[in-house]
Amino acid sequence: MENRKIKILDKIVADQIAAGEVVSRPASVVKELVENSIDAGATKIDVDVIAGGIISLTVSDDGEGIAPDDIPLALLRHATSKLSDIGDLDKLYTLGFRGEALASISSVARVKITSQQRNIAGQSAYTLESNGGIVSDLKKAGRAPGTTIEVSDLFYNVPARRKFLKREITEFGHIADIVEKLIFSFPEIKFSLSHNGKKVYNSPGNGSLLDALSSVYPKDLVKKLVKIDYGIQKITLLGYISSPLYTVSDKSKQVFFVNRRHIYNATLSKALEEGYRNILEKDRSPVGVIFITLDPKDVDVNVHPSKREVKFADNTEIYSIIKAAVSSLLHSVVTECPSSDNYQPMVQSLGNQGVQIPRASVPGLMIERPSDSAENLFAFNKLSSPGSTVASRPAEIQHAMQALSPIETLKKGTIVQIFNTYLIEEKDGNMTMYDQHALHERILFEQLLKKDREISSQKLLVPEMVFLSKSELALLEEYLVIFKDSGFEIEFFGQDCILIRAVPTFLTNKNYLELFSQIITDILTIRKSEAIEKITESVLKIVACRSAIKAGDRLSDVMIQSLFREAAKTPNIDTCPHGRPTHVEFSQHDLEKMFHRT
Ligand SMILES: Nc1ncnc2c1ncn2[C@@H]1O[C@H](COP(=O)(O)OP(=O)(O)OP(=O)(O)O)[C@@H](O)[C@H]1O
Ligand SMILES: [Mg+2]
Repeated sequence: MENRKIKILDKIVADQIAAGEVVSRPASVVKELVENSIDAGATKIDVDVIAGGIISLTVSDDGEGIAPDDIPLALLRHATSKLSDIGDLDKLYTLGFRGEALASISSVARVKITSQQRNIAGQSAYTLESNGGIVSDLKKAGRAPGTTIEVSDLFYNVPARRKFLKREITEFGHIADIVEKLIFSFPEIKFSLSHNGKKVYNSPGNGSLLDALSSVYPKDLVKKLVKIDYGIQKITLLGYISSPLYTVSDKSKQVFFVNRRHIYNATLSKALEEGYRNILEKDRSPVGVIFITLDPKDVDVNVHPSKREVKFADNTEIYSIIKAAVSSLLHSVVTECPSSDNYQPMVQSLGNQGVQIPRASVPGLMIERPSDSAENLFAFNKLSSPGSTVASRPAEIQHAMQALSPIETLKKGTIVQIFNTYLIEEKDGNMTMYDQHALHERILFEQLLKKDREISSQKLLVPEMVFLSKSELALLEEYLVIFKDSGFEIEFFGQDCILIRAVPTFLTNKNYLELFSQIITDILTIRKSEAIEKITESVLKIVACRSAIKAGDRLSDVMIQSLFREAAKTPNIDTCPHGRPTHVEFSQHDLEKMFHRT
């Protein structure tokens, strides 16, 4: 092999290598240019992209402009008007500070800058082109105050990098992603984004975050957003999160800003999702656009050249604040539909308040329950006699069922049960359809969680002998308290056997064995990764699910009223503990569309 000697790279090659840190694809160029426009105080920024930005991209603004003599300087490395002293880094409020971006871009693409300074009487605009490091003379040009920077032929002189660019559509996708975040971050700036001459985004620039979100996200999502506004110590959170009824399959709509800078930080996403614990379906993610404001001293923005990552002085503090803010907002029974930024969360009122609830019980379950009050729907009652299994419908239930004649159900305000599974209500101009099982399941789960309800036990006449493996026995010993809290009374018996002496009263004859093994499996699967608190919650979900009224259970009027009365008091009522929706809504307009009336 030829002897390798250490050489100093020539300036052009060194610059191109350094540029790789800042400019990896067209989207990173857009980000740098738009951030410069924002730093220049622009109120209007237009981004025009041709062929995914590979052929060209242009950013125009109405900002303060660049003095003619400074235009060539702007292209030099470490030339910046934003930072002069390392101490400034701590109190940085501009997006740029390295004096790196334009130098990097011009080392790997052709760049044309045209700028006219604001408020300088009698001065014209000037333009300058940089082509492969060769910079043209300044020429006079025509332009209103502001700056236009056109970048074309990205990586024309670095074929290895150009080869890595993806298809036009993919590159444009990355650009749109960057512009979206900037639209959210600066709702007072009017942004437009076009691709191959077609407008993609056009934000109003009226200062409203909700309007900015509306210019990017679909209408049905924006309707389901809830405002978050939370402050503690020197940290504030402001933004929107989705109601549990709107979820997505990935985390792409979890967007965080720190002091207005869009950043990536896995801890923040995790905190947001933790706030939705027991509310969302598995593998579904919430939407959240959250602005975190804190003292610049408590966050380091200079950990990565692309400025996309930050390091918090106290990561755990930020995590707990976000989790607490999200969870307390969701627990305050909120419905969606913000119509403006001054939107006030409304308390959901589902019940027919003031209605005298007559006596009732739960039909359709395999056990007989005492029919002393409609509240029984929410109590884990005692079996009438040990081992009793067969339900006999109490007379008043039969009565209530007969009372549900078709004519009566059509009365305004009445809730109708269909398929013995769904409850339909007309409310606030919408037709809402509830899943009775999911609704009841959420109510019971929240009650169990708050320990409002005890799960009562029923002694078995003959204890059930269950054989377990060594590992199952060990697990049972470790988590005995969970089984006890779920209504099981267990005695260790011999080397590989236990006696179940009492079972939760809400279970039918032999079903407790099924529940018992389900709890064991559940603990086995999650115990490695989860804390005891989460394991308990998981078991309570099973208990709530088993005890709730089922699909197929016929409900009387009074039971429905009772169900709705409880629902009105229950947090997180939009979804069941497994995250499935408890209700779906159709507006009159939706129905009209279905019937082709509009
Ligand atoms: N659109 C613009 N309007 C006004 N001045 C601009 C504009 N774009 C660039 N400049 C000027 O050019 C300088 C160099 O820009 P460049 O993006 O290279 O560095 P920076 O923004 O200071 O730091 P960073 O590398 O972190 O972005 C800026 O400091 C600013 O003075
Ligand atoms: Mg910059």
